[in-house]
This record gives sequence, C-alpha cells and structure tokens, in this order.
Amino acid sequence: MRTIKISCSILSADFRNLEKSIRDAEDGGVDWIHVDVMDGHFVPNLTMGPFIVETIREITSLPLDVHLMIEKPEQLIRPFADAGANYLTLHVENNPNIARTLEYIRSLGVHPSAALNPGTPISALQGVLPFVDMVLIMSVNPGFSGQSFMRHSPQRIQELSDLAKNMNKDLIIEVDGGISAETIKACCDAGANAFVAATAIFKYPQGIAVGIQALRNSSC
Ligand code: DX5
Ligand code: ZN
Repeated sequence: MRTIKISCSILSADFRNLEKSIRDAEDGGVDWIHVDVMDGHFVPNLTMGPFIVETIREITSLPLDVHLMIEKPEQLIRPFADAGANYLTLHVENNPNIARTLEYIRSLGVHPSAALNPGTPISALQGVLPFVDMVLIMSVNPGFSGQSFMRHSPQRIQELSDLAKNMNKDLIIEVDGGISAETIKACCDAGANAFVAATAIFKYPQGIAVGIQALRNSSC
C-alpha cells in the first residue's frame, strides 16, 4: 500500500459541535483537516474565513489544508497564514498573477498549492508547477459537498502525474469531490496521494472512524 494522506473536509461536519467533529476525525486517524473557503463569487456558496481556521488551530495540531475558492485570493493570504494554515490552495482559473501569490505563500512558511476545476486543461499548470508543493484536482465543480464524482478525473490525475514526472517535480497530488470507498482506488492508481472527503467521512452511516478506515482500505 502507498503512503497516502486523508484530508477531512469540515464542510459536512456537525457545526453544532465542531470541536467534537474534529476530535472524532483525529481519533479516527485522519491526516489533515481540509477547510473549504467560499466567497459567493468564485463559487455560488458562502462558507468560512480565517477566524474558523484560527479556531480549528486551537483544537488540533494536524496540518490545516485550506482550499480558497475566492476571488482576489492574494488579499487574504496573510490572514490565513497568521490563522495557522499549513497548505494554501489557489485556483488557477481567473488568476493571472498566481505565480506571484504562490511565492508569497511560500515566503510566509506555508506550502503553496494550485487547484484546477474539472473543465480546466491540465496544461494550464505547466508554468505553475515550479511554484507549488501540491496540486488539487477537483473531481466535482466546486461549491458544495455531496456531489457525484466526475468519471474523467482519474485520467486527468494520470495526465498530471505524467507531467510532473517529465518535469522531475516531486508533487503531492490531491483530489477533491465525490471521494468514497468506491472512487478512491482509481484516483490512487492514477497517481493521487492525498484525498479530500466530506460526505464519506462525516456522513458515513457507521460513523467517522469507520468511514476513514473504509477510505484507507479501498486506496491503493
Ligand atoms: C467542494 C469542496 C470539497 C467538498 C467535498 O467544492 O471543495 O472539499 O467539501 O465534499 P464531498 O467529499 O462530499 O464531495
Ligand atoms: Zn475542497
């Protein structure tokens, strides 16, 4: 079995008791906490800001994997870094100055990462790869948890994996959207090594820990 990271997206956590949700995920063996930041412009949903990241930082010492689905992300890098983010992911779409912002993220001691929507060609990453430690491939259109996995995603992961190899680039490949015990293996086989899941962890019928174990057992 390969070494993989499982990153639980708190978008489906029980916000009546976020601390318990996070502790249950940590006890269940999750590796990272994924925070979905949405601004109601880049995506049609509105969620969390630096304050939530700061709060989660007080609850856990696990790496915080912060996914920014916002316009003008450069304006919020500093607040998210100060709040305790360990990975900051920016979308390449509508982001002409992404390389500069990724360098800024690194200068703050945070891992820079770039995300791609399902309709964006992998070639859009060519000039961006030198600046990142991770690429996040969206396997649903961003905005909501609980959507169906898009079947062309493993092929896109494979394409990215080949591109990284050709460029001699050591890269974490993360996949996000519709990840479950049924879909994780194809992504893992294609080269992904970090997996975001909200529904398959926080809404797993037998509980959070069993959900995390089911993902691990089904990976490659
Ligand atoms: C979607 C978010 C995802 C989402 C995943 O825009 O980026 O992180 O929470 O949810 P599931 O695992 O339910 O597809
Ligand atoms: Zn996400």
